[in-house]
Amino acid sequence: MLSREENELITKVGSGTPMGNLMRQYWVPALRASKIEADGAPVRVRLFGENFVAFRATDGRVGFFDEACPHRGVSLALGRNEDCAIRCIFHGWKIDVSGQVVEVPSEPAGSNMASKIKVNHYPVHESIGLVWVWLGQGEVPPFPNYEFNNVPLDQVRVVQAQSNCNWLQIIETTIDSSHVALLHQYWLQGDAVQATTPLLAQTLQDRAPTYEIEPTRYGFHAAATRNLANNIRYVRVSEFVAPFISFIPPGQDMPKFTNIVVPVDDEHTIHWFVYHDPEKSINLSPLFYKINFGAEEPDEDNFYNNHGGKDKMWGQDREAMKNGHFTGMYALFVEDFVIGESQGAIADRTKEKLGRSDIAIINARKVLIKAVREFQETREVFGQDPSIAYDQIDAKNLLLEPGEDWHDRLGLARTEQQGVGVA
Ligand code: FES
Ligand SMILES: [Fe+2]
Repeated sequence: MLSREENELITKVGSGTPMGNLMRQYWVPALRASKIEADGAPVRVRLFGENFVAFRATDGRVGFFDEACPHRGVSLALGRNEDCAIRCIFHGWKIDVSGQVVEVPSEPAGSNMASKIKVNHYPVHESIGLVWVWLGQGEVPPFPNYEFNNVPLDQVRVVQAQSNCNWLQIIETTIDSSHVALLHQYWLQGDAVQATTPLLAQTLQDRAPTYEIEPTRYGFHAAATRNLANNIRYVRVSEFVAPFISFIPPGQDMPKFTNIVVPVDDEHTIHWFVYHDPEKSINLSPLFYKINFGAEEPDEDNFYNNHGGKDKMWGQDREAMKNGHFTGMYALFVEDFVIGESQGAIADRTKEKLGRSDIAIINARKVLIKAVREFQETREVFGQDPSIAYDQIDAKNLLLEPGEDWHDRLGLARTEQQGVGVA
């Protein structure tokens, strides 16, 4: 449970908000790189409640600007993209990739007005087929070297969709292991999952996992332990990388899996699902897509059909529920999106009744509140320390024998702060 002030503090991300200021200090994926072609149409991008335009210039460089023309605010997404610059169609002002205004044809000849005007532009970096942007202030941090950012393009696959709710409820769901064998049980019981990801299906054997948290300098390890037959314990160790990334243990022989949760504004969120294999090309089967995203060949840029949303109960299929489907939703990640939206545009965390199964999210909120306050007071950005081995962050499935400890298996020291209790 949070106070109203705390809930606002960590959910609101618009311009000038404390969390918005902090989040802008991290590199975020903005759009798929293939959406912008050299001299092709610019694309509007909305992030953190602000509007931007991205375009690829004649020479292949990417420009990322505030959307509004510095002259009188016309959308630069309407502009002409040519000659390594965007030209606003209202009065023809020409702005090069660095954001410098280079021509103002509406002004008399000899005017030096152009040289004095720049549009806000932002550093970009292309990786995993996406254009990432940094919207912060001060020194640009190094681009994060997560393992997925270091593999060839054929070894990574990215799926995205927008959900109509605040970003925090989306990232919270990704680190909430206890819902897996409840919300998603229909899919886990199916032959396909039993056959392809049997370990994940084992979560059905113990629906009340025990949580332990180990803080890290970027967030925490969250270990959810389930008791299986013969005194074997199944431990799923997820990684929370504050403020908006989580690494989730993959199914057996499946690519690794990372969630990147980026606010469009306070009430809309893009969820990027990143799959990568450090060794070989990715091959996600049609069945995998069907179970997770609802179609054998889903729209990888918007797989989510909310079937009319709340007003139409998200298309929940009551007939299917009578016939054994637990939720009546058409895919596994659709279930996550729907429950997130059903919590409200911004979930009211002042009325929750949290239990031991909520320890991961309780800790995530503590990390976020602390990170926001630290940034307000010191300008220190949580987790942005070059000595952190970001490329080593990795979620794990562990099967432990009696007496074995997950810390030992992962070579971790136990800290005194572990397992912050129920709030
Ligand atoms: S509004 Fe863009 S040139 Fe005038
Ligand atoms: Fe889920």
